[in-house]
Order: sequence, then structure tokens, then C-alpha cells
Amino acid sequence: MTTQSTDGPTRTAATSAAPWVPRGADLPTLAAAAASCAGCGLHQLADTRTVFGEGPPDARMALVGEQPGDIEDRRGRPFVGPAGKLLDRALHEAGLDRDQLYLTNAVKHFRYRRGAGPRRIHQTPDAAHVRACRPWLAAELNLIRPAIVVILGATAGQAIIGPSFRVTRMRGQLLPGPPGSGAQLLATLHPSAVLRVDPPGRDAAFAGLVADLAKAATALAAVTAQEPPSTTSPTSA
Ligand code: URA
Repeated sequence: MTTQSTDGPTRTAATSAAPWVPRGADLPTLAAAAASCAGCGLHQLADTRTVFGEGPPDARMALVGEQPGDIEDRRGRPFVGPAGKLLDRALHEAGLDRDQLYLTNAVKHFRYRRGAGPRRIHQTPDAAHVRACRPWLAAELNLIRPAIVVILGATAGQAIIGPSFRVTRMRGQLLPGPPGSGAQLLATLHPSAVLRVDPPGRDAAFAGLVADLAKAATALAAVTAQEPPSTTSPTSA
């Protein structure tokens, strides 16, 4: 049974996705398992699905957003709606190629409430949803082991850094990732936040996003310059 009410299952105490996360799985297996996750109430929202991360399993940079939006939920892919299009432009201007990045979200379901008619209105996930969904994010990042993780906005920051995260204070700085991860973190605005800025200021907000992504690109270049060349040996003919 599904519901569309604001105070229905999406308000029930979120628990944890952990029991649904298979151990030792590769990314396609994780994605397939996530499709039946019932680790929090969001899976009960009508007509939604899990939108898992996508990108090469050896991506050296991962970007983490908040949750899929309406279009992402319909298409089953992250960052393919208006915020995704803006992100694509910003990545391009920062010299990054989306096809080489892993894109995912802190929360894998679209949390919404019904507006007039068929409209589905985005609702920010609660801290409990973020916590419940964290095992999926941890599993993705543990498999990919990116050198740089770009945190897009407050929800991703809370998932990765915790409740002390403040995007305005922490954006644009390289921060150490969790001990043992080998990753560096760089936070920036969420592309939807740029879209919400009224036109007089939107160009500056977009330029700020590009500048932060360019710092992430520079940090990645510095890391890869220090990495040993690929150990893949050429096959002997
Ligand atoms: N906003 C996000 O945080 N993620 C998406 O995939 C789309 C919009």
C-alpha cells in the first residue's frame, strides 16, 4: 500500500538500509539490491523507485547530491533534470567530463508531497532518512574509492561530514576525508541552490559553483600526478 501524504510513511522513523546492503558486492549488484530497499519509509511513497549512483567503477572523483528529483525518479538516473543540466554545464566549464565521474545522492529515493493535480513537490529528506540511507553511500564510496568527493550542498555534507557541516562556511576548501579513505572532500553549492537564486545573482552563483569544481579538478590532477602509472600490463602478442 502506498501513500502520498506528507505525514504518512515519509514521517515514520527511518531506520537503516544496512540489512539490504549485500556484502562484497560490486556496483551493479549493489544497485540491483537497492531497488528493493525498505530501510526507511520513503520506499512507500507512490510511484517512486530507487535511483542509484552511476558512473565508472574506477572513477577518481565522485559527486554526491541530496536526493533524486522528479525527473530523476521518472528516468531512474541521477542528475538528469534541471539541476543536472546546470551541473553538466558547470562541470564542462570546470574542465571535468561527466562520463568519468561517479554521480550519486545521499538519499536514493525522491521525497515529495503532492501539489495541485499530478505535481510532485520536492521535500528535503529528514536527517533520519539521510542516516538510514548512508549504508548505500558508504558501500558505493568504499567500492569506488575516489580520490576526491565533491559534496553538493547541505544534505550531502550532513551525510558525509555530519551535523556540523555548513556549506557557506566550508565550501571551496579541500578537507580530509574519513580516516583510511584516502579521499579528500570539497564542498560546494547544490546546483538547485544556484537555480533558486534570482537572475541578477544567478550568474555569480554559477561562477562560484564552477570555481569550486575547478578546485576539485585541480586537486584531482595533483593526486593523479602522484599516482603510479596503471599497473595493467600489456598483453603479449
Ligand atoms: N538533485 C540532487 O541532489 N540529485 C539529483 O539527482 C537531482 C537533483
